[in-house]
Formats: sequence, structure tokens, C-alpha cells
Amino acid sequence: MKEEILHLLKNSGREFLSGEDISKEFGVTRAAIWKYINSLREEGYTIESVSRKGYRIVESPDTLTEEEVDEYLHTKYMGRNIVHFETIDSTNTKAKELAAEGQPGGTVIISEEQTQGKGRLGRNWTSPKNKGIWMSIILRPDIDPIKVCMVTQVAAAAVVKAIEEIGIEGYIKWPNDIVVQGKKVCGILTEMSGELDKVNYVILGIGINVNLEKRNFSGELKDIATSLKIEKGKSINRKDLVAKILNNFENLYESFVKQGDIEKSLDICRERSILLGKKIQIILRNEVIKAKAITIDEEGRLVVRGQDGKEEKIISGEVSIRGMYGYVD
Ligand code: BTN
Repeated sequence: MKEEILHLLKNSGREFLSGEDISKEFGVTRAAIWKYINSLREEGYTIESVSRKGYRIVESPDTLTEEEVDEYLHTKYMGRNIVHFETIDSTNTKAKELAAEGQPGGTVIISEEQTQGKGRLGRNWTSPKNKGIWMSIILRPDIDPIKVCMVTQVAAAAVVKAIEEIGIEGYIKWPNDIVVQGKKVCGILTEMSGELDKVNYVILGIGINVNLEKRNFSGELKDIATSLKIEKGKSINRKDLVAKILNNFENLYESFVKQGDIEKSLDICRERSILLGKKIQIILRNEVIKAKAITIDEEGRLVVRGQDGKEEKIISGEVSIRGMYGYVD
């Protein structure tokens, strides 16, 4: 009921909506409406109430609920069902649970904060409250499980396009980092459940440092990570950015899974790669291999030339890439 009242108020924009009209619409008393309005206020909505006129929303909170993100979305199904949490251990863990229970593809799990955010290769992912975009998308692609790693490239392309749309130039550090001014702003963690020849579901976890301050980065993160706010010098509208990512992602993902066209995404990954043409270090468990990054092939693998002049194709799985001296350079 509360969501429906909110929806009605949002749809009426600057116009007042009378308590009587709302109570008629839903068949409940005006006292009940008053209670729902107060509960919305507690959630952070500023709602003006004027006698004989009614209610109108003056300001909405900076939360990533379905109601808030929806007005920015242009998708058919991606993000049309958002499961929102104030706090959670990890949105990827929750997404797996919900996917196993049968939630449809396109469902997005978002939390304002994660207490045990997961990064690649068993690392932690710092996810402070209300500062970032910590979300996981449930996908059910009908593709060969071997191609699932390409979903990461599709997502990286979508994120880089979305941040470009808000005026920030981002680069992709293959396979799953987005970099601004040489520092990481976004990481992608793709997990899947499947059999040898069948994908049950894919969980695409995206973490973006949106409005984090310098003090939110501790230890070695200080040198390798940054936020969009720090780089842009002003706060970013998280709802708009979530929607821009989902809008771009649906488009590129549909081309990939429906038309088998991954090139659209890979072209963006190549154009926006921060590695191609550079000397890099490939770290696989304890081994460090020095090589030059040549290109990203049609299967999303990083093609590198080793010091012996031989070309090799790297799959994303277990590797970590570094520049010769630091995170990217
Ligand atoms: C990495 O760069 O190591 C990947 C980081 C992925 C972080 C996101 S935040 C939302 C989702 N939930 C998680 O626990 N992890 C991913």
C-alpha cells in the first residue's frame, strides 16, 4: 500500500493530491493514509501537506529503490524488478539465493551497504553506506557455459558507456575493472551456476565507487582506488547512473545473447582498454609473467606477446593484471 501511495504521489508531480482522493482510490481511511505518509517521511521523503489541498512530494531520498530508479529506466526487463536492502552481507550471495528460488532474469539486487562485499580472487570489496552502487543482476542466458565470461566484458562496456554519459572518461582494465585517471572506480564479479552444457543462472555483481570520499579508502586502496565524486569534483546522482548502466547493459546483452553479437561490446572494450599496447605483468598464483598486451580477441581473451616473442591468449579466470610499476602503468 505504501508503495502504491508513493507511486501515486510521484505521478502527480508538483500537483497536490488530496487525502480524500487517495483514501477513495485505495478504500482506506484518511487516518491510515496519514500513517503511510509519515512512514514515507521516515524513509527520507520530504512530503508537504497543506490543508484543503493535500500532499505532494518535495524531495525524494538518495536511495536506490525500484521506485526511485524506475523513472530513469528505459529497459524492457533489466532492473524492472529491484530487490533493495539497507544493509546486507553481499548482493551476489543474496542474488544466488533468489536465483535458486526462481527469480527471473533481469532482477537486480541492490544494497545501500555491504558488510561482506566480495571481490575477485577471494578479496574483500569495501562498500560503505549510501556512497556507492553495490548491485547484482540475475541473468538466465541460453548460451554455452564457456561463453559466460564474456558477460563480464558486456558489463564493462555498459559501465564505461554509462559513466561517459555523465561526463566522465573511463577506461577498462581487462577483464573487469573500470579505471578513471589511472585508478579503479568499479569492479565486476561474475559468478555462475550451471552444468557442462547448460547455464542455470549467472550473477553479475557490479560495484562502483560513486560518492566515496578519500577517507573511505584505507591501506593500499588509497593508491589504487578512487571514486567518481573525487574525480569529477561533485556528487553524482546514483539513481540516474544505475539506470544508465542497466539501459546500456540490456542493449549490449541482448545483442550478445539473442543475436550472438559480442563484437559491439568487444569493440568498446578494445577502444577503451587501458592495457592494449602497454607492457604488463600477468600474475597467476605466485608466478609473474611480463608481456605486452596486443589485443582482445573475438572470444574476449587478452592476447599478449611474451618476452620470447610468442603470442598467448589469456582467459580471465584466475589472473590478475598489473602495469609494469603500478596498478595500470
Ligand atoms: C573486483 O574487482 O574484485 C570485483 C568487485 C565486485 C564487487 C561487487 S559489489 C556488488 C556485488 N556484490 C559483491 O559481494 N560483490 C559485487
